[in-house]
Amino acid sequence: MLYPFKNLFDQNRRLREIDRQEGLFGLNEGRLVYKIARSLKDHAVVVEIGAYKGKSTSFIAEGLNGKNSKIYSIDTWFNDGGMRQTRADTFPEFLNNTASWRGKIIPLRGFSSEIRRSWLSEKKIDFLWIDGDHSYTGIKKDIEDWLPLVKKNCFVCFHDYRDEAGVKKAVDEKILDRTIVFVRREGNIFLTRKLID
Ligand SMILES: C[S@@+](CC[C@H](N)C(=O)[O-])C[C@H]1O[C@@H](n2cnc3c(N)ncnc32)[C@H](O)[C@@H]1O
Repeated sequence: MLYPFKNLFDQNRRLREIDRQEGLFGLNEGRLVYKIARSLKDHAVVVEIGAYKGKSTSFIAEGLNGKNSKIYSIDTWFNDGGMRQTRADTFPEFLNNTASWRGKIIPLRGFSSEIRRSWLSEKKIDFLWIDGDHSYTGIKKDIEDWLPLVKKNCFVCFHDYRDEAGVKKAVDEKILDRTIVFVRREGNIFLTRKLID
């Protein structure tokens, strides 16, 4: 009788293991992005802006189970974008923490605006996760650059909506023009869905 619950227990254990990683991200937030990733079909394209040491990356990668689905993790890996941490190379820790999901993760090192310039416009996004530059101008630029690439009805998730005034302002403005609609909040996450292509 215990057998049907085994997968659930295993999944819970794996998510708790990821939660032990150092990062700027909580377990309930992790569960939410995990579930979104799990809902995606084969060949899904996930874009993450702001990976730091890979905690959010790991939750998403753990959820991704479609054939040939990938998460493109964009970061300078130098604590950019107004972080309290001093400038340091966090890429070795990112690689170490995400080693279990290596086949699903494609790290793209650089500023998100630079990466956008080399991103093919035909490559559309199934889930966009934004947790990079938290200044108003920084997040506005990420929204302008990356939101047009997201497919209709797909999820767009912002971190630090509760704690960063610049994030809240930029996201609230975007909600007003009805490109995205509010879905739910979880901790510091503000989850939306894109309404138009
Ligand atoms: C708050 S941390 C991300 C936390 C991470 N999601 C986690 O789970 O712990 C923000 C990250 O975004 C990166 N960053 C800031 N501005 C950026 C930009 N314009 N382009 C690329 N990466 C950026 C920083 O280097 C940092 O690693």
